[in-house]
Amino acid sequence: MAERPQRDVTNHLLFEVGTEVANRVGGIYSVLKSKAQVTTAEYGASYTLLGPWNRASASVEVEELEPKDPALIDTIKSMNDRGIHTLYGRWLIDGAPRVLLFDTGSAYRFLDEWKADLWAVAGIPSPPGDTETNETIVFGYLIAWFLGEFVYHEKKRAVIVQFHEWLAGVAIPLCKKRRIDVTTIFTTHATLLGRYLCAGSVDFYNNLQWFDVDAEAGKRGIYHRYCIERAATHSCDVFTTVSHITAYESEHLLKRKPDGVLPNGLNVKKFSATHEFQNLHQQAKQKLHDFVRGHFYGHNDFEPENTLYLFTAGRYEYRNKGVDMFIESLARLNHRMKSTNSPMTVVAFIIMPAQTQSLTVEALKGQAVIKSLHDTVNMISENVAKRLFERSLTWHEGGDLPEDKDLISAQDKIMLRRRLFAMKRNNLPPIVTHNMTNDAEDPVLCQIRRCQLFNHPSDRVKIVFHPEFLNSNNPVLPMDYDDFVRGTHLGVFPSYYEPWGYTPAECTVMGVPSITTNLSGFGCYMEELIENAQDYGIYIVDRRTKGIDDSVNQLAEYMFDFTKKSKRQRINQRNRTERLSDLLDWKRMGMEYVKARQLALRRAYPDAFDGAEEPDFFGASEMKISRPLSEPGSPRDRSGMMTPGDFASLQEGREGLSTEDYIAWKLPEEEDPEEYTFPL
Ligand code: UDP
Ligand code: G6P
Ligand code: GLC
Repeated sequence: MAERPQRDVTNHLLFEVGTEVANRVGGIYSVLKSKAQVTTAEYGASYTLLGPWNRASASVEVEELEPKDPALIDTIKSMNDRGIHTLYGRWLIDGAPRVLLFDTGSAYRFLDEWKADLWAVAGIPSPPGDTETNETIVFGYLIAWFLGEFVYHEKKRAVIVQFHEWLAGVAIPLCKKRRIDVTTIFTTHATLLGRYLCAGSVDFYNNLQWFDVDAEAGKRGIYHRYCIERAATHSCDVFTTVSHITAYESEHLLKRKPDGVLPNGLNVKKFSATHEFQNLHQQAKQKLHDFVRGHFYGHNDFEPENTLYLFTAGRYEYRNKGVDMFIESLARLNHRMKSTNSPMTVVAFIIMPAQTQSLTVEALKGQAVIKSLHDTVNMISENVAKRLFERSLTWHEGGDLPEDKDLISAQDKIMLRRRLFAMKRNNLPPIVTHNMTNDAEDPVLCQIRRCQLFNHPSDRVKIVFHPEFLNSNNPVLPMDYDDFVRGTHLGVFPSYYEPWGYTPAECTVMGVPSITTNLSGFGCYMEELIENAQDYGIYIVDRRTKGIDDSVNQLAEYMFDFTKKSKRQRINQRNRTERLSDLLDWKRMGMEYVKARQLALRRAYPDAFDGAEEPDFFGASEMKISRPLSEPGSPRDRSGMMTPGDFASLQEGREGLSTEDYIAWKLPEEEDPEEYTFPL
């Protein structure tokens, strides 16, 4: 490294590389999108996101721009001249960061050459026919190409490149091998083996140390992908992940202790009126009522006021996301509500995209039937109003007031009767809103059948499976995801494998209570920070020390207790949940990214930090990014004492995380109250 030219570390440039830049797949999109505002506030034009060019999503999310930076102009031009298509523009989100997207399709002619090179330089095999890996390789080589040329044109400023997940990681070993003068951070949001092993029936957490990683990867046909992930892990300057639980997993499965944890934040928006989010809940809930009236037409024997909306959502990972446990617990909840004659009804939504052909006729019919009823009732009430007005005009003293029977005509009654008959149904309200490609074997449907949750009138728990992400153009459930979440009462995410878990975090900032587990990064993070988390609408199921049956019971118990809350109690709890938002704000969480970047610079350019001349780089960043909020958002908010990822080090001089780092975060009694900066 000594032969590297001295680059300016203070005015450095930042690239972030991910396959979900302007392209929603799962939580990594949420990281990049929600973080954009704090990162652009800190870096302005010195920050660019790099991703593959997905034309469908980019056409909606990106506005093309002319690049201004001379090094960028030259690099893009040189790549374009060699037939690589790119899109440079602004991502149309808060913070409006610059993005440079590469059309991998325009580079496939190099695929064989690059595969051979990957084998030669890194010993990574790439068997034919794995399109996802091919994409990963082509994208990685394009990124390495870009970075190599870029630092050739930009010789003065240091360049930090942060890569998210193995899908964006091929360029990391290439940067190292080609000695490209950048410093690299690799952030993993899960491990490949973790995801695969957990999806099977393995006792994952008790055996983490013992897995023969190569053999396990080989058995699952993902050895080559695992090699990419592991190469990225070992050739980056700074290795990080999103939670302590995944740090522990990475240490054992990827064989490197992360240098630190970068927990995920959100772009928290405050309303001028504090309780605006409560009004939004009420409005969004009305839309859910509308949907439910249609979906359950002919069986609307439960009152909206006594109906609670529960939901789970995410990518379809049946076991990892804990859908198996959710459904089983709903069955037990149903039983308890029935046997205690609960006046409440629970409607539980499962929002998880699966292979489908179309919306079902029955789902469409439900909404149509209710719409027609609405139209007819409106028409009748107009007629009634007209007649009432005419009768009133001819009224004279001593005369009778018009009677109901004079107001609704026989024709009106026929019209109404026709609508009511159209609402008769001989079958039960459907479970699923779409025609599934594999209805008979779908794990969610099979579990629902096994638990016999069939939306029978006697059931106090009803189920709606919506196997597609939500959007407001959907004719059956026309709501965007955020709007939907606001309308619900409780999010349930009993994950077995969940490095972070954005879905419950999103609930929290919208003031919606949620249930997670102590196997999710988010659950552990909140458990560590908040005492009496349940009062704040943060329920955490123990899936770590309890057996499966006990965990299911605990989840059912949480839900049952929730059904017993009064409206007033729910409103109060939502207020408390929403108060936790500040804990999850990037303004606070983003500090770990700042620290990781600083460490990357120190490792690549140690000379720049030597002696008295050492630039106060960290101090300089502090001025640009807000400090963690000083007002405690919860009883145990320790923002004065530490920043969010601070159980780890992210500091030179300590050798990454130590085992105590993992243990400390789950043993609150080991904290030293002396160190608290707020009154006890
Ligand atoms: N999500 C969405 N539409 C939906 C359901 C979920 O956009 O209908 C989003 C949700 O907002 C969240 C992401 O999907 O940000 C899931 O991220 P998470 O970290 O929970 O899980 P991952 O998919 O990354 O494993
Ligand atoms: C919000 C609204 C209230 C409404 C309540 C319903 O707080 O501001 O007007 O009564 O939500 O709460 P619930 O838990 O019954 O949906
Ligand atoms: C991954 C994880 C998820 C996490 C997300 C963002 O996809 O599955 O738990 O929230 O990345 O870090």
